[in-house]
Amino acid sequence: MKTLMDDAMIHLLLSSFLCSILVVSSSVDTISTAQSIRDGDTIVSAGGSFELGFFSPGNSKNWYVGIWYKKISNESKTVVWVANREAPLTNPSAGVLKVTQDGFLVLLNHTEDIIWFSNMSSRSSENNSVVAKLLDSGNLVLKGSNDQDVPENYIWQSFDYPSDTFLPGMKFGVDNVTGLARYLWSWTSNDDPAPGDYTYRMDPNGYPQYFLRKEDVKQFRSGPWNGIRFSGMPTIYSNPIYNFSFVMNQRETYFTYDLLNSSVVSRMVLNQIGVLQRMTWIEGSNSWVVHFTTEMTNCDMYAFCGPYGLCTVGNTPECNCLQGFEPKFPKDWGTDWSNGCVRRAALGCNNGDWFLKYSGVKVPDTHNSRYNVSMTIKECEAMCLKDCSCMAYANSDVNAGGSGCLLWFDELVDIREFTENGQDLYVRMAASELVIRQADHNGKKTTKIIVVSIVSTGTVMLVLGITFYMWKKKQKPKREGLKRHQGYHHKETTNEDLELPLFDLDTIVCATNNFAINNKLGEGGFGPVYKGTLEEGQEIAVKLLSKKSRQGDDEFKNEVICIAKLQHRNLVKLLGYCIQEEERILIYEYMPNNTLDSFIFDESRKMLLDWPKRFHIINGIARGLLYLHQDSRLRIIHRDLKGSNILLDSEMNPKISDFGLARVFGGNETEANTKRVVGTYGYMSPEYAIDGLFSVKSDVFSFGVLVLEIVSGKRNRGFCDPNHHLNLLGHAWRLYNEGRATELMDPPVQNSIHLQQVLRTIHVGLLCVQQCPEDRPNMSSAVLMLGGEGALAQPKQPGFFTERNLPEAKSSQSEDETFSANMVTITVLEAR
Ligand SMILES: *[C@@H]1O[C@H](CO)[C@@H](O)[C@H](O)[C@H]1NC(C)=O
Ligand SMILES: *[C@@H]1O[C@H](CO)[C@@H](O)[C@H](O)[C@H]1NC(C)=O
Ligand SMILES: *[C@@H]1O[C@H](CO)[C@@H](O)[C@H](O)[C@H]1NC(C)=O
Ligand SMILES: *[C@@H]1O[C@H](CO)[C@@H](O)[C@H](O)[C@H]1NC(C)=O
Ligand SMILES: *[C@@H]1O[C@H](CO)[C@@H](O)[C@H](O)[C@H]1NC(C)=O
Ligand SMILES: *[C@@H]1O[C@H](CO)[C@@H](O)[C@H](O)[C@H]1NC(C)=O
Ligand SMILES: *[C@@H]1O[C@H](CO)[C@@H](O)[C@H](O)[C@H]1NC(C)=O
Ligand SMILES: *[C@@H]1O[C@H](CO)[C@@H](O)[C@H](O)[C@H]1NC(C)=O
Repeated sequence: MKTLMDDAMIHLLLSSFLCSILVVSSSVDTISTAQSIRDGDTIVSAGGSFELGFFSPGNSKNWYVGIWYKKISNESKTVVWVANREAPLTNPSAGVLKVTQDGFLVLLNHTEDIIWFSNMSSRSSENNSVVAKLLDSGNLVLKGSNDQDVPENYIWQSFDYPSDTFLPGMKFGVDNVTGLARYLWSWTSNDDPAPGDYTYRMDPNGYPQYFLRKEDVKQFRSGPWNGIRFSGMPTIYSNPIYNFSFVMNQRETYFTYDLLNSSVVSRMVLNQIGVLQRMTWIEGSNSWVVHFTTEMTNCDMYAFCGPYGLCTVGNTPECNCLQGFEPKFPKDWGTDWSNGCVRRAALGCNNGDWFLKYSGVKVPDTHNSRYNVSMTIKECEAMCLKDCSCMAYANSDVNAGGSGCLLWFDELVDIREFTENGQDLYVRMAASELVIRQADHNGKKTTKIIVVSIVSTGTVMLVLGITFYMWKKKQKPKREGLKRHQGYHHKETTNEDLELPLFDLDTIVCATNNFAINNKLGEGGFGPVYKGTLEEGQEIAVKLLSKKSRQGDDEFKNEVICIAKLQHRNLVKLLGYCIQEEERILIYEYMPNNTLDSFIFDESRKMLLDWPKRFHIINGIARGLLYLHQDSRLRIIHRDLKGSNILLDSEMNPKISDFGLARVFGGNETEANTKRVVGTYGYMSPEYAIDGLFSVKSDVFSFGVLVLEIVSGKRNRGFCDPNHHLNLLGHAWRLYNEGRATELMDPPVQNSIHLQQVLRTIHVGLLCVQQCPEDRPNMSSAVLMLGGEGALAQPKQPGFFTERNLPEAKSSQSEDETFSANMVTITVLEAR
């Protein structure tokens, strides 16, 4: 690529011969009134972060003026802003971008017609002509050439008119004085930056909140800012990559963020299918990694349960009426929840109305709410009680025990429960709704509420004894509600008649570009894995099984269909299979974020995994494993649980892979796959590695190793410490016994807010890797221990504590046969 100075020089020379207009000269980050930009010219911000020029996205034949990252070394441009989104140039060589004498930035076409312009201007003065300058933040500003680069001096700035990208330093919100609304508007497609279907925008009415809309229809509501995060986005945490804040004053209301390390490249994008994602550029892998996505479960869909409905992911059904309410149309309830619920007993206004507290929820739509940030919760309650149309109240700020007052004056819409980081909401109840509150034996985490309705006739009827658990599973919901971006239809749930599609070999050859080497994702124990794209655009992972399986076609097919019935959000989903000619192929969902290994052991990518994410991953793995061990209809021992067998989806949900493959292969393992049967050193329990015995407890051991690896960011195998010869397990145990367990933590995990949880997790990890299988907990206990608060047993010495008495050489392939001789109990799967 030519350097900028070359570009500038060439143009300088050419233009002095050919045109009267002088093209970009001395300063390469500005365009002055005397200059212009044409196809091929660019300006680059002073720090070299961003570049502005003409571009044509994807396969488009149209040309646009835009800003993209200069810093990143990827050939395809990552465009962050487009000027003429709606008015493309068909012929790039004709376009001219310039600053007019009137102080407008304009884009002219072939016929010198203005096809785009900055709609604010200021006449240049004699000594301070207007220039357009590209700042290193990616902001293109118009200002006087002698003026400082500060917002007060900007006549116009591209940050006021974002495209689909929310860059650090941008203000995402509204300016109450100018009326300017800065919001995200998705592209139509990868090839077309024209405004697409989705917008994400602040609604300043009532108490401000953001809405994701498809055209005009509300899809998702962020909920109001509660002092720490948006009420409906519990997964926003303080993290090592960016800090963020929400500003609300008379002048303006906005959300903004800054990157904490100037060498990190990270952005937030509203993509074409309406998903808001944060992505960070990973230099080593030369690609963007998604590490935050708006959740899209049914419960995240705006008003899914209708007025006074409460949505809980994982419940059947997901919608329930709030206490004291009943379905408006009982007949439809169960198929359509959108009509919501109505009160059972009329409110008495000042005659004995009271408030029922809901903990851990996303507060209702604040469109029709009022607030006062200086009130206490008591004043808030009194205020709400006084006004008969006030339906609920909550703290407007949940920091430091809560402060401020938020009042709702309309139907309560779009409430959901969260497993973490929800807040308290107090809902108005009629005097006749008597409630007995009980503290559960587990303490604060579980609240049982029993509602007894006293019917007005005086007869006391026990209408309902509803027990519900505010804190259900800690499981983060997967995007199972909105199927809109799954081109491929595959029934979820426990449908007995599940039909597993049989794929045609040609389809797979085509999808993987004939198993092209650059589509190869890796080599698993059972054969290579390729990435593929089906005609409908769905991305898949294709596992070519080695041809040694001795099963007949029908047996193979039955096995595969059987395994396809194992469905859990923490297991990789089988989409189909193929038996044709010699080939046995399994088709899985594609996991964009690759393996857990590729994150936790990578110096830069590990920064993306703060503690809440790691804890989420550990819990997910535990649940997936529990399902395999206990809950699925086939009892499965994985036997090769390790970081590279845990895949991460776009939301960093962990998915166990390769489960049940041993079953497909049956008991007749051949030499080719003994390697897999042996498992992987570093993760194998002593009784398995030495005596070839395995049970669910050997999986528990591997799980414990994974837990310690995730916390520490270090591999068990190959771990070394200058002070001793212990492996990671021994090291962890020693630190634990010396009361120094905190030293095990990987730097991105070191956050005092979560310290207790991290220490508890290390403790559980140590319990799982104990020497004797009988001492290790089973997976259901492990899951409970991770989520609970009760006292835990003291861990005994971990397996392989005396370490390095097991010769390293045993891990090499040459030893496989010795081990496979012990592998008599190959078929570990019991049908239930
Ligand atoms: C230039 O833009 C004007 C106004 O949009 C349009 O009418 C004209 O056809 C365009 N000229 C060319 C060559 O595209
Ligand atoms: C400026 O243009 C934007 C679209 O590019 C439009 O939304 C906005 O209303 C315009 N402002 C004025 C003052 O014309
Ligand atoms: C422009 O600069 C000249 C000399 O530098 C000065 O005499 C003149 O007053 C300036 N004009 C304005 C409008 O500031
Ligand atoms: C916006 O300004 C108006 C009057 O200028 C004021 O009444 C209103 O409270 C302001 N909005 C916010 C959110 O501060
Ligand atoms: C992030 O932290 C820095 C340094 O503490 C501070 O100057 C900046 O204002 C913060 N940014 C946001 C958006 O909170
Ligand atoms: C910033 O990031 C770079 C690259 O990821 C890293 O080398 C550097 O140590 C980081 N700086 C700080 C202060 O964390
Ligand atoms: C450029 O980045 C994209 C998106 O992250 C990635 O898919 C592609 O492989 C990268 N291209 C190169 C040449 O590395
Ligand atoms: C907010 O509440 C405080 C404390 O109760 C009160 O003094 C103040 O007048 C209230 N403000 C408004 C605008 O109602």
